[in-house]
Amino acid sequence: MSNKDIYILAIESSCDETAAAVVVNGRKVLSNVISTQIPLHTLYGGVVPEIASRKHIERVNQVIEEALKEANCTLDDIDAIGVTYGPGLVGALLVGLSAAKAICFAKDIPLIGVHHIEGHICANYIQNVDLEPPFVCLVVSGGHTHLVRVKDYGEYEILGRTRDDAAGEAFDKVARAIGLGYPGGPKIEQKAKEGDPEAIAFPVAKVADGPYDFSFSGLKSAVLNYMNGAQMKGETVNEADIAASFQKAVIEALTGNARRAIHEFECDKFAIAGGVASNGTLREAMETMCQEEGVEFYHPDPILCTDNAAMIGAAAYYEYVAGRRDGWDLNAIPNLPLGQR
Ligand code: KG4
Ligand code: ZN
Repeated sequence: MSNKDIYILAIESSCDETAAAVVVNGRKVLSNVISTQIPLHTLYGGVVPEIASRKHIERVNQVIEEALKEANCTLDDIDAIGVTYGPGLVGALLVGLSAAKAICFAKDIPLIGVHHIEGHICANYIQNVDLEPPFVCLVVSGGHTHLVRVKDYGEYEILGRTRDDAAGEAFDKVARAIGLGYPGGPKIEQKAKEGDPEAIAFPVAKVADGPYDFSFSGLKSAVLNYMNGAQMKGETVNEADIAASFQKAVIEALTGNARRAIHEFECDKFAIAGGVASNGTLREAMETMCQEEGVEFYHPDPILCTDNAAMIGAAAYYEYVAGRRDGWDLNAIPNLPLGQR
C-alpha cells in the first residue's frame, strides 16, 4: 500500500439521524455532521419510518455539503464513499445509499457498503487511535444488543445477541411506561440519579441455552406489572426508584455476559459501542468489571456512540484497504446480518 492518505466521505441514514463525515485513514475525523430528527419523532413517541425517509431526502445533500465544507475538502479530495446499507429502516437506508451511488458514479470513485453495527464497533478506532483487534465488543443500541468478538479488521464473530428486545428498546419502552417520553435512554439515566437502584428487585433474565445471549422483554414486563400492581392498590410509584432499579438490572445482565466472554476468550481488551454505551452508569460498571478482570476498557465519546457517519468512515477505510468494493447493484438490506458479505 502506498503512503497516500485515504480520504473517505461517509454517509449514514439508517434510522433518525442524517449524517455525513470526512475521515482520513479510518482514524482521523475532519468533520462529523449529524442532523437529528429526534424532536420530530418525539411527537409520536418513537421513530415513524415514512417521516424518517422524507426528512433524510430533505437533509442529505445539505449534510454532505456541510461535512465537506467543515473538512475543508471538495469531492475531488475524496478517495471513496462509505455508506450504511443495513441494518435499518429500508426507506431511510435507501436515501443515503442513493446519494452515495450518485456521487460515486459522477466522480468515478469506489462505493463501499458498511454494516451499521460494524460502524458502531469501529467508533472505538476513532476514539482510541492505538486500539487494534482482537478484542471483545458489546454493541448496545436501540435496535441491537450484540456481544461480538472482533478477530481482525472486518472479521466479526457474534458470541451472543438479544432474544427479544434490544437494550435501548427496553430503555425506550420503560421510559414510555413511566411517562418520561422519547428517547428513553437518556431520560431514564437522568431520572435514575435521584433513585435507589436497590429499591425494587427486578429480575435479570438469563438465557439457559445461550451463555452470551440476552433477554430484556421479561424485565420490561416486570416493570409494567409492578406499575399495574401499584395502580390497582391505589399506591403511588416512585419513578426514580423504578428507573434506577430497571437500569441496574440491565447493567447487571450486560456486565455479567461481558465478564463471561472475557474469561472464556481470554481477551485483554474490551470495548462498548452504540447509543446505550453513552450511559455513564453502564460505563462505570463496565470500567469496574474490566479493572477486576485486568483487561483494558475502551469506549467512544457520546457523540461517537450515537448514530453518526464518522464511525461508518472508519469501518469503510478498513474495507477499502482490504480491497472490497461494491457495485451499483448494492441494495439496502433492513436485516443485514453482522459479519457476512
Ligand atoms: O445507536 P443508536 O443511536 O441508534 C440505533 O442504532 O439504534 O441508539 C439509540 C438508542 C435508543 O434506544 C436510546 O434510548 C439509547 O440508545 N440511549 C441510551 C442513552 N442514550 C441513548 N440508553 C441508555 N442511556 C443513555 N444515556
Ligand atoms: Zn446505531
